[in-house]
Amino acid sequence: MKVWRKMARAVFLPYLKINTMSGLLNSSIARKVAMALSGIFLISFLLLHFLINFTSVVSESTFNELSHFMGTNPLIQFLMQPILILGVIFHFVMGIVLEIKNNKARQVQYKMYKGNLNSSWVSRNMIITGLVVLAFLGLHFYDFWFPEIVYKYVEFNPADTTRYFGEMVHKFESPVRTGLYVISFVLLAMHLWHGFQSSFQTIGVNNKYTPFIHKLGYTFAVVVPAGFIFIALFHHFITN
Ligand code: HEM
Repeated sequence: MKVWRKMARAVFLPYLKINTMSGLLNSSIARKVAMALSGIFLISFLLLHFLINFTSVVSESTFNELSHFMGTNPLIQFLMQPILILGVIFHFVMGIVLEIKNNKARQVQYKMYKGNLNSSWVSRNMIITGLVVLAFLGLHFYDFWFPEIVYKYVEFNPADTTRYFGEMVHKFESPVRTGLYVISFVLLAMHLWHGFQSSFQTIGVNNKYTPFIHKLGYTFAVVVPAGFIFIALFHHFITN
């Protein structure tokens, strides 16, 4: 009897767990929370990415050292990087799902929704700014990520600790690419302007720190994308 019970558990438990997870993601509140958590995760990546990239305008050797560490450390390469890529995919897929569900729900307009009277353009158009950032990521992966994967894991080139700075600066030679990056960073700023504080609100941070989180969100949304714009323009006009 005990053996049967154990076997039944082994067969059905994973199914039940998966079923609960999908059931959970089917509730609109859970979807918003999942969206918020993945957003907060991407915000922390963005800060790290910005700090590392910013060293490129200060010290070529520091940028090379940090890039080499990030590009060769097994923990980062084989654990953090896949988690990050999955996080990016999850955030965009859930964003599109949320938009479709919201559009359907909006067809049954509710009284309090008065379009631009009680919400900003940015908060109503997160899907547009999000899709521009997604398009930017396509270009960005083509520029940096794919060549890096080919260099290391397809061609098995020897490690070269000094190549990163030159390769990155070379990308900002083209005015068209630099312009596309700058436009994308402006839309990224708009996306973060609403996304940052909205994520914390969704996960229930609603206390005496709320005004601080709002200010922090607006500061982050301006400073980080402006910093990325500065890096791109610096390498286009000064380093190249
Ligand atoms: C001037 C601005 C930027 C520069 C110079 C830059 C540079 C780079 C470089 C050199 C890599 C390659 C890392 C590697 O695989 O070795 C990379 C990867 C990446 N970048 Fe950026 N980046 C910029 C802005 C951004 C922004 C704004 C985002 C997000 C919206 C972003 C998202 C990513 C992602 C997701 C990866 C893949 C990370 C990985 O797994 O390696 N980047 N970037």
